[in-house]
Amino acid sequence: MIMAFVLKRVHINSTSNAIHRPAKILRLILYLSILLTVVLICEAKSTCTVNGINYICSNIVTRSDFPLELPSNVRKVTLMGTRELNDAFPNGLYNHITWANVSELSILKFTNIDIIEKSFLNGLEELKVISISYCTHLQIIDQDIFNYTPNIEELHFDGNTRLNLSRVEAALIDKLSNLRYLSLIGIQALERHLVLGDNFVKALHAKNLSCLDISGNNVIIVENAVVNDVLPNLKYLNVSYSQILAPSGLDNMAKSFFKTIELLDLTGVQYLFFEYTTQEERIIKGAENSHAMYFLMREMVNKHAKVIYNIRLRFETCDIKFPKMFDLSKNSLIHLNITFIGDCRLRELETMNLESNNMEYISPNFLSIFPSLKILDLSNNLLMKMEYVEEFSDMFIQNKDLEIVFLRNNRLTFVPSNLFLTNSKLSIIDMSENELAYLNLNLHRAENLTLINLRRNRLKTLSSSMMEQFESLLWKQNTESNHRTHVTNGLLKQFQDRSLIGKRYRYGFNASEDIQCEKSHFIIPLYVTTDILENRFVCDCDTLVFMEWILFTNIDIINKTEMSCKYGNTEVFLNIELFQTVETNCQLASSIGIGVASAIAIIISILTLAITIRQRCKSKRLNQDLEHLKQEILQENTHFEFLIFLSYCSRDAQIVYENILPSLNRYLHETFYTERDIVCTGENYFVPGMRIIEEIHRCIDKCLVVVPVITPEFLQSDWSQEECVAAVDRHRQVVILMKKHTDTSRAIVTIQNLIGQYTRGTWSDNEGVFVIRPSWNIICEGIVRAAIEAFRHYRIRNLIEPAEDNPLVEEIV
Ligand SMILES: *[C@@H]1O[C@H](CO)[C@@H](O)[C@H](O)[C@H]1NC(C)=O
Ligand SMILES: *[C@@H]1O[C@H](CO)[C@@H](O)[C@H](O)[C@H]1NC(C)=O
Ligand SMILES: *[C@@H]1O[C@H](CO)[C@@H](O)[C@H](O)[C@H]1NC(C)=O
Ligand SMILES: *[C@@H]1O[C@H](CO)[C@@H](O)[C@H](O)[C@H]1NC(C)=O
Ligand SMILES: *[C@@H]1O[C@H](CO)[C@@H](O)[C@H](O)[C@H]1NC(C)=O
Ligand SMILES: *[C@@H]1O[C@H](CO)[C@@H](O)[C@H](O)[C@H]1NC(C)=O
Repeated sequence: MIMAFVLKRVHINSTSNAIHRPAKILRLILYLSILLTVVLICEAKSTCTVNGINYICSNIVTRSDFPLELPSNVRKVTLMGTRELNDAFPNGLYNHITWANVSELSILKFTNIDIIEKSFLNGLEELKVISISYCTHLQIIDQDIFNYTPNIEELHFDGNTRLNLSRVEAALIDKLSNLRYLSLIGIQALERHLVLGDNFVKALHAKNLSCLDISGNNVIIVENAVVNDVLPNLKYLNVSYSQILAPSGLDNMAKSFFKTIELLDLTGVQYLFFEYTTQEERIIKGAENSHAMYFLMREMVNKHAKVIYNIRLRFETCDIKFPKMFDLSKNSLIHLNITFIGDCRLRELETMNLESNNMEYISPNFLSIFPSLKILDLSNNLLMKMEYVEEFSDMFIQNKDLEIVFLRNNRLTFVPSNLFLTNSKLSIIDMSENELAYLNLNLHRAENLTLINLRRNRLKTLSSSMMEQFESLLWKQNTESNHRTHVTNGLLKQFQDRSLIGKRYRYGFNASEDIQCEKSHFIIPLYVTTDILENRFVCDCDTLVFMEWILFTNIDIINKTEMSCKYGNTEVFLNIELFQTVETNCQLASSIGIGVASAIAIIISILTLAITIRQRCKSKRLNQDLEHLKQEILQENTHFEFLIFLSYCSRDAQIVYENILPSLNRYLHETFYTERDIVCTGENYFVPGMRIIEEIHRCIDKCLVVVPVITPEFLQSDWSQEECVAAVDRHRQVVILMKKHTDTSRAIVTIQNLIGQYTRGTWSDNEGVFVIRPSWNIICEGIVRAAIEAFRHYRIRNLIEPAEDNPLVEEIV
């Protein structure tokens, strides 16, 4: 569909054919200065090196620098010039017998050569590849230059900015019947244009040209003859960074002129300059480009444009051929809502690049049609807009082969924990440079994970479930043998360097060499590696477990020694000394609290012994604790504005508002003698316009107990699960109210642990009859006790001066 836009019209600059010949005097001065330079650098002789079948001579200055004889077995020769003295090469360069078997010759950067004469290549009968490139003064090549080199398959005239195309065409007519690959990169100076017309067709007549590279030319005018006779035979066409002017009406023929194309590189061929919105339904016919392998369509849309797709696509038949690699990066695709209708699947696509599009929405249905997708790059977009869309967690659900996913720089504050639930082949996840303050990902199926990059986020610590998962991954990988194939490495190499794909079409390409990766060059690390540098880690009593994990587990953390954290008000390196200091301080803090308290307690308990002796000790302590709690909760400007945070899924809102919240409120208002709202819910207290994840943490911070209302819907909601994990990580007490018969076997580990550890209230709602066991009185008493416990811990951690008859004391006495 997108290929159809390819050859639309673009604007051309005004063109002129002027070649400015310097005046004679100027030329003289030029020659004199060159002469001077040459005299000066005469001592710096050219250097030739031999490496197996390769022979390279650089810095050729004078005629005597050319090697007339080659070392034995040399097959590939590169001669690199400078501003050479003459306007032409010496004759009879390759007469010696040692040149007879040379198959590849590169003549590069002779920047003062004007003309190449007829006999230049004589003696190179076996030549397969010739490159005469970056000779910026070259204007003329003799039309008989190829008379004695009938075996040439590959011809490069790149970067010869003054070479006239008609000279190349004349030299090709009726010669080089084996020519397969023609490369004319950047052969026109900026203000001129290249016309591919009848003469071009004549020059290529009766050849089997399958690769054409005309990239980097200012404007290329493609005439009908070329569309009909040259394009339909091409396997490889590279027109990147050229502007194309095609015959009008080409759109209608679009179906036939790329019949055999495998690699199409249209990078930077800009065709769209404005906002483009489409809202329609289209029908796609069967395979047109049945050989398609690599379609590179990067940067085809002006960066100030906006492309908004709301398209429904229906396939006429499922016989669709899609490329293996599709690059649509830098195309200003803001909204990619492509819905495929029907059951067809495009199984060829393995790598897709959607990087740098400022993309705010991408429909999961679009990705689901590519079940073989292995590498997906979504970096540099605005996918944080997806955080509020329920579909986000289903984004990769159908891409079961996914191995590498880039989500770098998307301003994400949150990723759903189930985002990678089905992606068991995942190897690399890159979520660096986002705004994640908190991360909880379910990676239990991702047994092959080797690299997770979380660098440059806003993480203050890692959640306990993430730490556990990394450890279990490490264990799995060390015990099971590592079955990594080179295939993904090869794919990733090609994905990152497209010129490697271009190489496949060159003479002498050796596929097994291409895919090969030395063990030391692994792009994908062998064992799980974590990159968490440059976050906002905090080192305090709450993060001791995290610090310990960083320092003492075997997890491979990239540049571990450079990790830092906030300690007090300064940023310091996270090392063992720091850990020991923090650990000691925290132990001290709690024992000072208890120590001071116990001294006072002993006195008080002696003084009050007689009076309190008959009181029921336990209930008194509870009552005292309750009083402290009440004081804390009811005072102005308290840290704990609420007693509980009621966590529920919005789909259960009705039950919560009709049955749960009123009962909780009634009991708690009675216990605390207050009419103030001490139950916090997202619905009532999240501030509109803020990031949800930050609001969750802010509210939980103000509560002592988190009460999750667990239902099947709750277990499917990312935000609800997030609230439970946040509760555990913030050391809040949790009292669960669970719907009867809820299957928790697929719940995240944190929730399963909570369910396994604590007793809970269970409720049912049959035809509007709400029943809860045990009674509300008992549940609420449990909540109050949990709050007392949480408050006690809070005071220990924060070293609040103990009150006179502090209940903390009596535990020690
Ligand atoms: C050129 O190749 C042929 C056949 O492989 C071989 O017999 C001959 O010795 C080679 N000539 C040189 C100069 O290497
Ligand atoms: C043209 O080249 C292709 C490979 O590039 C080859 O498969 C085909 O047989 C060749 N055709 C002719 C007529 O030489
Ligand atoms: C996507 O397009 C479909 C119609 O094809 C429409 O119903 C749906 O609302 C669109 N979704 C978004 C998020 O734009
Ligand atoms: C196409 O040409 C451009 C510019 O010459 C080059 O950078 C790119 O690697 C080529 N594409 C392929 C696939 O080789
Ligand atoms: C391709 O490369 C491999 C590995 O370097 C080598 O063993 C093999 O001989 C090469 N094949 C050809 C045809 O050059
Ligand atoms: C991390 O380590 C590598 C080599 O181990 C080093 O080159 C790099 O400078 C280090 N620092 C950062 C910030 O990546």
